[in-house]
Amino acid sequence: MRAIVVTDQAAGTAGMKLVERPEPQPSINDVVVQVYASGFVKTELDWPSTWTDRLDRDRTPSILGHELAGVVTALGYGTTGVSVGQRVFGLTDWYRDGTLAEYAAVEARNLARLPGDVDFTVGASLPISGLTAWQGLVVHGRVLAGQRVIAHGAAGAVGSMVTQLARELGAYVIGTGRAADRQSALDFGAQEFVDLETDALEDVGGVDLVFDVIGGDIGKRSAGLIRAGGTLVSVVGPPEARPADGLAVDFVVESDRAQLSEIVQRVRDGRLRTNIGNVSTLDGAVAAFNRTERRKGKTIIRARP
Ligand SMILES: NC(=O)c1ccc[n+]([C@@H]2O[C@H](COP(=O)([O-])OP(=O)(O)OC[C@H]3O[C@@H](n4cnc5c(N)ncnc54)[C@H](OP(=O)(O)O)[C@@H]3O)[C@@H](O)[C@H]2O)c1
Repeated sequence: MRAIVVTDQAAGTAGMKLVERPEPQPSINDVVVQVYASGFVKTELDWPSTWTDRLDRDRTPSILGHELAGVVTALGYGTTGVSVGQRVFGLTDWYRDGTLAEYAAVEARNLARLPGDVDFTVGASLPISGLTAWQGLVVHGRVLAGQRVIAHGAAGAVGSMVTQLARELGAYVIGTGRAADRQSALDFGAQEFVDLETDALEDVGGVDLVFDVIGGDIGKRSAGLIRAGGTLVSVVGPPEARPADGLAVDFVVESDRAQLSEIVQRVRDGRLRTNIGNVSTLDGAVAAFNRTERRKGKTIIRARP
């Protein structure tokens, strides 16, 4: 099968190659999915799991990508809950060969049913950004109606989901980002926007929750805005500063079938809008991930038409 692999950590996205690889075989509790569409987060190239296995042994060439939407073609020994021919979507294990390929082997528990009226491209855009937003707001941040929330990078893949979900949960949402993203953040439902390059973040006043997808100085300054009892949720590593009288949580997203179903249901009924930018083929994937111009929305790779 065709797949996008990396072998050289120093090369970044320029080291991505489209090659032939053996089709994966399903292990216990796995399914093999024929991939129709797949997503990729650039920072995968910085994660140890892309380069080494759980015993720290070199695992290159590694197939990139950890989000997929496709059709189940085979079941492993003992696999239940999904069937051959079923449309599925989900998030795959960081340490296994990924989804920028024609086929991927995935633990069945990491997948949910993709309803027939949801396109594969849409399905592949949801797992990382949707689950990250859900887990940061609901599971770790425990956001409540009426609370004030800062959604950093509100026009980005994760931030646009955070903005929409936080609004649905009744929060008052302050989106942030670059000047060019103001309208997009407001369209996703932010009630205010802070241009981080020219506005003073501190002017927004106290908030109950900050969802940080940027880190660094922005993360540090955000900690100072959190009211007593509030939470700083980070998905870019352990916060360098913590709220004086609140919680700081950093986490890595996990697959969750029930949450995937909640998310896709919201897309179907219009409560959540996807944030898809460029859609490319496997043949065009290396070029798509090496474009120098600024990207808007998530890049999705179609492995099948
Ligand atoms: N821990 C986890 O489980 C997890 C899960 C998902 C994502 N992440 C991480 O979260 C981060 C965001 O992911 P994403 O997919 O949402 O990326 P994305 O689509 O690029 O969104 C990030 C947004 O924030 C903006 N931004 C970044 N730095 C900024 C700055 N200094 N000032 C103003 N705006 C800034 C970006 O603008 P520009 O494009 O112009 O920079 C972009 O609009 C990545 O580092 C990713 O690895 C972690």
